[in-house]
Amino acid sequence: MKILHATAEYFPYIKMGGLSDMLSSFSKEQAKTHEVGVCLPMIAGLKEKPQFTGKTYPCLETRKMSPTPVTEILTASIFREAMYGKVKLYFFDSPLFSDLTSIYANSDEHFRFAVYSYATFCLSLQLGVDVFHAHDWHTALACALHKVSPFGKPSVFTIHNLAYQGDHPLWMTGFLKDEPFGLYPEAYLQDGKTNYMKAGLMSASKITTVSPGYRNETLFEPNGFGLSYLLRKREMDYDGVINGIDTEEWNPSRDERLYATFSKQDHKNGKFKNKTELLKEIGRPLIDPARPLIGIIGRLTYQKGYANFIQAFKERTHLPHFYIFLGAGEETLQNELFHLSHTDQNRIFFYKGYDESFARKVEAASDFFLMPSLFEPCGLNQLYSHAYGAIPIVSRVGGLRDTVSESPLAGEYTGIVFEPGDVSSLGYALERAHTLYLDQAKFYQTRERIMGINWGWEKRVSEYEAIYGSAIQKKE
Ligand code: ADP
Ligand code: GLC
Repeated sequence: MKILHATAEYFPYIKMGGLSDMLSSFSKEQAKTHEVGVCLPMIAGLKEKPQFTGKTYPCLETRKMSPTPVTEILTASIFREAMYGKVKLYFFDSPLFSDLTSIYANSDEHFRFAVYSYATFCLSLQLGVDVFHAHDWHTALACALHKVSPFGKPSVFTIHNLAYQGDHPLWMTGFLKDEPFGLYPEAYLQDGKTNYMKAGLMSASKITTVSPGYRNETLFEPNGFGLSYLLRKREMDYDGVINGIDTEEWNPSRDERLYATFSKQDHKNGKFKNKTELLKEIGRPLIDPARPLIGIIGRLTYQKGYANFIQAFKERTHLPHFYIFLGAGEETLQNELFHLSHTDQNRIFFYKGYDESFARKVEAASDFFLMPSLFEPCGLNQLYSHAYGAIPIVSRVGGLRDTVSESPLAGEYTGIVFEPGDVSSLGYALERAHTLYLDQAKFYQTRERIMGINWGWEKRVSEYEAIYGSAIQKKE
C-alpha cells in the first residue's frame, strides 16, 4: 500500500510530546512492508538536519485557480523530499513556517495549519496514495478536502488528544469557503466556531485513537470535549489501537545516553549505577541510593494531574521515596515544583526544561515511574518505563488503563494502578510502591517481567492495515 501521513511533529526533527515519537516509530515499522511517506512542516527550529534527496514537489494543483492569499502562499511553497530510513519525508517549505522556532503557540495557527493541510491533500493526490492518514487537528482539514473532492482518497484520521481541537472564531476562517478550499461551514462548524478536529471526525473514511480505553471514554462527556455526540454517531467507524514504541531507539542495552547500559538479564548493577550517577549529577550525592527513586517526566499541564501528585507528596512525608521530576509548561505548577525542590531537597529534585537525554537517564535510574494523568489517550512513558525497568504507577485512564495492570494473577502484574483525580488513592498507590520495594524478590521479578514486554509496532501495524482496508472499501 502507498500511504501518506500528515503531522505537525516527527521525531527527531520536531518533538513537543508523544505525537512525534508515535509518528516516527509507527512509520518506520510500516515502511518495512509498505511505501510510506510523511508530511511535516519545515520550521527554523528543526532539531536535526534532514537528509534531503534534492527532489521537490509543488503544493498546488496545476489547474487554474483564482488568486487568493492562500493560493499565493501555496505557490511560494514546496515540499522537499528527505529520507529517514525507508520512510520518505516531505518537508513543507513555506514562508508560513520557515521563521518559526517552535511549532505551536504561534499566532495565526488557524491559517497556517489550514494552508499546510491543503498542501498535504494536494501532495497525496500527486503521489497517488492508496490511503491518506492525518493526525490531530493540525491536518484534519485535509480529510474534509478528500471527502469533497472528486479525486479524493480514502482517509484515516487519528485523534491523539481530543482536548486540543483547533477551534477558532468563525470570522477568522472566512478563507475556508474560497479557493482553493471551497468548504461549506457544515464541514467544520461546532458551537458557533470553526473546529478543525470536527472537520476530521465528520469526513475521514475511518477514525482511530491511540488506545481502546480512550476510545470508549471519548464516546461520552466530559472526555469527548463536546464532540462525543459525533463520535457516537460514527461509532462503527471508530477504533482504538494502542501505540507501540521504537524498540531500537528505546533500548537500555544500547542507549548511549545512559551512565551504564543494562538489560533484563543484568538490570541490578546497571540500574543501580544509573541511580547513583544521576543523584550525583543533580547535586544530591548524599541521597541514600537504597531509597526508592520515583521518576516523573511530562508536560506541566492539567491533563497530567501533577497538582494531585503535589498534594500527595505533601501528605505522605513518612515515605522514603525520592522523586526526580523533569517537566516544563504551566507557570504555577513550575513555580510550586521549584519551591518544593528547594525547601524539601531530601525528597524531591525538579528540573525545569525539555531534555531528551535527561529523560532517558531518569527512566534508567528510576525504580518507579509516576503518571497521575486525569485523562491519557495513550501515554508513551509507561511503555518506555517498562522497557527501562521502572515500574509504572499510573491512574486508571485511557491508554494507561490498557497497558498497566495491577492484577494479582501470576505473570500479569505490570505496575500499580490508582483512581484518577483521587489524591488519597494516589497516596495509597505510593504506599503500595513502598511495600513492593521492601519485598525485593517480588520487586525484581516485576522489573524483569516488565522489561520483557514487547511494546513494538509489529502487531499494531497489521491492525492499521485492516483499518486502511475498510477505509478503502468505504470510499469505493
Ligand atoms: P504527551 O504526548 O501527552 O505529552 P506521551 O506520554 O505520549 O504524552 O509522550 C510524552 C513524550 O514526551 C515522552 O517521550 C516524554 O519522555 C517526552 N517528554 C515530555 N516532557 C519532557 C521533558 N520535559 N523532557 C524530555 N522529554 C519529555
Ligand atoms: C498525545 C497524548 C498521549 C499520546 C500521544 C501519542 O499527545 O496526550 O497520551 O501518547 O499523543 O499518541
